[in-house]
Amino acid sequence: MQNFIYHNPTKVVFGKAAISKLGKVLPSNKKVLVLYGGGSIKKNGVYDQLTEQLKETHWVEFSGIEANPEYTTLMRAVELAKTEQIEFILAVGGGSVVDGAKFVAAAINVEGDAEEILNDSSIVKSAVPMGCILTLPATGSETNTASVVNISEKQAKKAFMSEHVRPQFAILDPEVTYSLPDRQLANGVADAFVHVVEQYLTYPVNAMVQDRFAESILQNLIELGPKVKETDYEVRANLMWNATQALSGLIGAGVPQDWSTHMIGHQLTALYGLDHAVTLAIVLPRLLKSQQPEKRDKLLQYARRVWGISSEDENAAIEKAITKTEEFFRELGIKTKLSEHDIDATAEDKVAHLLETQGLTALGEHGKVDVSTAKQIIAASM
Ligand code: NZQ
Ligand code: ZN
Repeated sequence: MQNFIYHNPTKVVFGKAAISKLGKVLPSNKKVLVLYGGGSIKKNGVYDQLTEQLKETHWVEFSGIEANPEYTTLMRAVELAKTEQIEFILAVGGGSVVDGAKFVAAAINVEGDAEEILNDSSIVKSAVPMGCILTLPATGSETNTASVVNISEKQAKKAFMSEHVRPQFAILDPEVTYSLPDRQLANGVADAFVHVVEQYLTYPVNAMVQDRFAESILQNLIELGPKVKETDYEVRANLMWNATQALSGLIGAGVPQDWSTHMIGHQLTALYGLDHAVTLAIVLPRLLKSQQPEKRDKLLQYARRVWGISSEDENAAIEKAITKTEEFFRELGIKTKLSEHDIDATAEDKVAHLLETQGLTALGEHGKVDVSTAKQIIAASM
């Protein structure tokens, strides 16, 4: 196992009516900025529950944070936060709103060009404290330090990470997921699945806790996938907690990590506006095929332990596990080929160009996924 420091101080308030406990975790006597998205929280009752809880709080709101949160929108929230002298940020929504809130929290305290945060996370030396009420289980953003921001005019989707923007608390009520469209539920399962894979399917370092914990989350997601569209509390509760743990930092501590599927996927969102999880379901099967030699030991472990493939032939077991992975995404209702999204072969060069301009030229746990490998992966995804 590799050395690591593990510390995840986000307080999780989980379960039915969890929003009613907001008062227990929200710091008192702070001026709060509530950030939310396009209005789903007004339709499903979350906004009403929230305003009930904020009766004694001095707060203002900013809405309209898009899926794949836009830099220019977030900068408008930064302006409001500065004018209103905001002391705490409360994100209410899916990963995009939570990520957007993290960027706003950091940008308020950055002198000079806030866009630079997305090129160099180390310039974030502090942030306005924040917490979240999560409405979409998928990204894990609710307890982690990552944020992904879209700059559409530059066709760039970029991430930053900082301990300063880890939410102080995350309120997780599985019942708020009942209003989610089927597409977002499928996306949630796929995104969480790929988060685990990016931290698990590399090379063995004898990290027994991380491996078996990762395998259990993958098996849970495989079990939950076919049921996820049912309005069932136990299913939604388990989806929510699996998705949180998929990217809370625990399974990634002390192990090599990949993230090339995400980096290639982000370019597809930047270019074509595809949902984040959809890009992952397209890229991952081809990435695994292309990196078979490098990932061989873990791929075999994945085949045996996660998919229960016991055939003697190791190569056949690995092939079957990759096929089953793609079938799993398809059974969720996600189209895993670029052509099914009306994207043509010019995507190869476009993705390659974006990776190159962002310096993403040595991805993966060995730095072996270069631009030409990424091009081959995109070509194979047609
Ligand atoms: O904007 P509203 O009206 O709220 O609607 C949203 C949005 O249209 C809707 N929604 C959310 N909760 C709902 C709901 N609709 C009905 N009922 C509810 N309870 O769902 C739509 C999608 O929301 P979004 O927040 O975009 O989805 P998701 O949570 O999948 O977040 C995706 C973003 O997170 C980033 C992605 O790149 C993408 O930008 N990621 C963040 C990560 C992190 N911070 O660690 C890791 C991930 O790999 C990912 O990159
Ligand atoms: Zn993801």
